[in-house]
Amino acid sequence: MDDTKVFLQERIERINNYQHNKTLKERADHFLLESLKEKYSYNFDWLGLPIIQYPQDIVALQEIIWMTKPDLIIETGIARGGSLILYASLLEMIHNNGVVVGIDVDIRRHNRERIINHPLFHRIRLIENSSIEEDTLAAVRNIAEGKTRIMVSLDSNHTHEHVVKELQLYSPFVSKGCYCVVFDTIIEKMEAGSFHDRPWGKGNNPQTAIEQFLRNNRNFSIDNEIEAKLLITAAPGGYLVRHQ
Ligand SMILES: C[S@@+](CC[C@H](N)C(=O)[O-])C[C@H]1O[C@@H](n2cnc3c(N)ncnc32)[C@H](O)[C@@H]1O
Repeated sequence: MDDTKVFLQERIERINNYQHNKTLKERADHFLLESLKEKYSYNFDWLGLPIIQYPQDIVALQEIIWMTKPDLIIETGIARGGSLILYASLLEMIHNNGVVVGIDVDIRRHNRERIINHPLFHRIRLIENSSIEEDTLAAVRNIAEGKTRIMVSLDSNHTHEHVVKELQLYSPFVSKGCYCVVFDTIIEKMEAGSFHDRPWGKGNNPQTAIEQFLRNNRNFSIDNEIEAKLLITAAPGGYLVRHQ
């Protein structure tokens, strides 16, 4: 076997073996839950703008985008723009017509300015509105016209009801072989009462929304291999791939 094949084979075996390493799994879970309390995911930038993600998820997104080569990425929930810039930076290298559309109910002026002034802004379209409004969907449909490889990233309001609605509205955009990534499923594993100032929590979050969505939708399944290798992710069970 050539060196590349050996390397990949060893990687698969190593990741498979993680499931037998109880200490590794427990310590990864411990780090994840403790670091969530300390807002660790707020510590990083992507090409100059704050991205509210775990570095492990950023690497997973890079692998998915490079592998699936979308020409349109739809993101709900853009916050300070770092994830938009991440998507734009990867699209810049993959396609000469790749676009990311960022939807947020509240794009604060200083955030909008930083996004607009970024060298990758030519890859970005912004929609300031709730992701589940009909006007938003109409604008997204317009942008999606003629696109053939569409990926979706859901990272806005994390209540069960909102994410179920987003999954219903945005999953039809996802192309076969592409991903719909649903962030913050980790909320289900966090202690009850972790979010005093938010409507979501245990039993009411993106994880419960995915469970409901997958009960009625046979086109998507969870890519468990991503979580198996990351060990640390804010989106356990949240990497959905469309296979039909
Ligand atoms: C977790 S942050 C997004 C983080 C961002 N994706 C990143 O990786 O840096 C959630 C964002 O969702 C937005 N949001 C909340 N409700 C929304 C809604 N109904 N429609 C669209 N965006 C919404 C908030 O304004 C906030 O900016």
